[in-house]
Amino acid sequence: MDLKLELQKKADLVENALEKYLPKGNDPQSLIFESMKYSTLSGGKRLRPILMMAACEFVGGNVEEVMPFACAIEMIHTYSLIHDDLPAMDDDDYRRGKPTNHKVYGEGLAILAGDGLLNYAFELMIQATLKNDKNLEKKVLAMKEISTASGIHGMIGGQVVDLLSENKKIDGTTLDFIHNNKTAALIIAPIRAGAILGGANEEELEALTTFAKSIGLGFQIRDDILDIIGDEKKLGKKVGSDIENQKSTYPSIYGLDASKEKVNELFHKSVQVIKHFGDKSEFFIQLSDYLVRREY
Ligand code: IPE
Ligand code: IPE
Ligand code: MG
Ligand code: MG
Ligand code: MG
Repeated sequence: MDLKLELQKKADLVENALEKYLPKGNDPQSLIFESMKYSTLSGGKRLRPILMMAACEFVGGNVEEVMPFACAIEMIHTYSLIHDDLPAMDDDDYRRGKPTNHKVYGEGLAILAGDGLLNYAFELMIQATLKNDKNLEKKVLAMKEISTASGIHGMIGGQVVDLLSENKKIDGTTLDFIHNNKTAALIIAPIRAGAILGGANEEELEALTTFAKSIGLGFQIRDDILDIIGDEKKLGKKVGSDIENQKSTYPSIYGLDASKEKVNELFHKSVQVIKHFGDKSEFFIQLSDYLVRREY
C-alpha cells in the first residue's frame, strides 16, 4: 500500500464532500457562509475524517455512510482552530497557509463562523441520521462520541486548562490532561465513530480506541515539537507561538529530546495493539509511522 496515495485519495473525497455540504446562497447572512468556507476549504490535512473513514474500512463498513459524520468532525475541528487563533486565545495570524479567519473577517464574524461550523456539523449529522432508519442506533452512538469529545469533557475542557495554564508551572499530569482533551479527544472520536458506524465488534473497538489514544497524545506532542523546530512554510502556521504565549508544552516541561522519545514510544505502542489484525491494519501502521516524523 502506498500511504501518500491512500491519504490523498481519502483527502480528495473529504474535500469534495465538504464542498458539497457547506452552506451556500445569497441570504442576508451569506457573509458567514463565506467565512466558514474560507477556513474549512483551505488545505488542512483532513486527518480526522481520514481516520474515521479508515476505522470504518478496518471493520468492513461502507465508507460512503460515514461521509456526513467525517465532514462534521472536520467542521468541528476547523471551528476549534478559528477560535484557538482568536486574540483572546492564542492570538495567531496564520493558519493553513493563509491569514486567520479573524484577520480577514474580523473577530465578530470569526466567533460566529466557529459557532456556525459547530452547529452546522450537528445539522449535517442529524440530517444523515434521519434520512432513513438504517443503522439509526449506530448513528446516534457516533454523534454521542463526537459531541462528548468536542465538549467540556473533551476539546473545550482541554482548551480551558490550556488557557488557565499560560504563564504557569504545571505538572505532567495536568499537561497530559490538556493534551488528551484538547487534541486526543478529537482524534479518538472519529476513530471510534467510524468503527461504530462500520459495525465494529467489541475487540475491534477496544483495540482501535487504545490505538487512537496513543496517536492522539503523540500528535499533540509532535505539534508542540513542530512549534519549536518546524518550518513555517510547511506548517502553514507560525512557529514560536507557544513560547510567546508562555504555554506549557511537552518540550517546555521535559525538553525536546525527551519529547521526541515520547512520541516514538507512543506511536510504537499504538502499532502493538493493532498489528495482530493482519493486512487490514496496514494503513494505520504506516500512518502511525508517518505521524511520528510529520513535518506539517
Ligand atoms: C492542528 O491540527 C491543531 C492541533 C490539534 C494540533 P492539525 O495539525 O490536524 O491541523 P490541520 O487540520 O491539518 O490544519
Ligand atoms: C490546538 O492546540 C488545540 C485545539 C483544540 C485547536 P494548539 O494551540 O497547539 O494548536 P495550533 O498549534 O495553534 O494548531
Ligand atoms: Mg491553543
Ligand atoms: Mg494555537
Ligand atoms: Mg500548537
